[in-house]
Amino acid sequence: MAIHRIGVVGCGLMGSGIAQVSAQAGFPTVVREVSPNALEKGLGAIRRFLDGGIEKGKLTAADADRTLAHLQGTTDLKALGDCDLVIEAIVENLPAKQDLLASLDAIVKPGAVLASNTSSLSITQLATFVRRPERLIGLHFFNPVPLMKLVELVRTVRTDDTVVAEVDAWCRAIGKTVVTCGDSTGFVVNRLLVPYMLDAIRAYEQGLAGRDDIDAAMKLGCGHPMGPLLLADYVGLDTTFYIAEIMFDEFKEPRFAAPPLLRRMVMAGWHGRKSGRGFYDWSTTPPS
Ligand code: CAA
Ligand code: NAD
Repeated sequence: MAIHRIGVVGCGLMGSGIAQVSAQAGFPTVVREVSPNALEKGLGAIRRFLDGGIEKGKLTAADADRTLAHLQGTTDLKALGDCDLVIEAIVENLPAKQDLLASLDAIVKPGAVLASNTSSLSITQLATFVRRPERLIGLHFFNPVPLMKLVELVRTVRTDDTVVAEVDAWCRAIGKTVVTCGDSTGFVVNRLLVPYMLDAIRAYEQGLAGRDDIDAAMKLGCGHPMGPLLLADYVGLDTTFYIAEIMFDEFKEPRFAAPPLLRRMVMAGWHGRKSGRGFYDWSTTPPS
């Protein structure tokens, strides 16, 4: 079965980006959120990104209109019933993903592929929540989705080869570069990136250097596009914390443990860029 109609569940940071790139590549795409407000927020982010692209001369107003014409927002999960590929991008929480996958399993057609954009949960475990585990795959996009070229395609021992081939072809059709990897917690990128971000938070917490100096050190000393504290704000401190908890639970290594400061910032509602406050204050001028 060729992949044509796409469903995305969650229109937050990642879901909005995934829905955008899918629609931009000409695939009819339906994105589901939990409430009209959350949906409008996500679709608003897509419109702003497209407007930014027009201002930068990266696309025309006609391109943006075409993208929006391929995109449909909904709060009704059943609207995803006739999709060939449904990608979930909801909160990094196992019970929430279990509930969602069980509901999707009851709705989608037998040949559909289900994919999870999880950063750290086990794809093998997620596949136990559906009746056709051979048709569930990990599809890990990177933030910000429209600008980051990589997708990690994660297969389990049960994944059907034809599913891998179909999803790989779709990723290439939306302009992404695919790396294929096995189902180990954090896959390739987060296995390496998450301990680095957590170590940066620990260095800041222990007073090794100030926020701006830590970020400048890694930007100018290592040629990273942004420093680790700014990056953690971009990813979302809540999401970074959930990922750390899952990775620590899996590996039991201190380098994956969430630093106390991160835990407290999340408890205080400082979730980074998306909440207006993290290591940086995003409520006024965004940091450069
Ligand atoms: N529409 C179209 N193109 C746009 C655009 C828009 N709205 N906004 C920016 N662009 C283009 C720019 O024109 C520019 O294109 P060129 O390279 O052709 O000039 C390019 O995108 C970069 O844009 P900017 O110059 O405005 O921004 P930047 O150079 O500061 O880069 C960034 C921004 C891509 C976010 C960069 O800072 C970066 O790569 N940061 C690191 C991001 C990262 O590491 N992400 C991974 C997070 S971890 C994760 O996702 C996994 C997980 O599970 C947690
Ligand atoms: P987010 O908090 O920005 O968005 C999550 C969205 O899902 C929210 O808008 C929420 O309302 C919605 N949602 C929750 N339950 C839902 C349901 N049942 N149906 C529809 N919508 C629902 O989070 P995010 O950063 O977009 O992360 C989403 C997933 O992507 C997580 O699994 C995360 O680990 C993963 N991920 C995140 C990043 C990142 O940098 N933030 C990168 C790669 C992967």
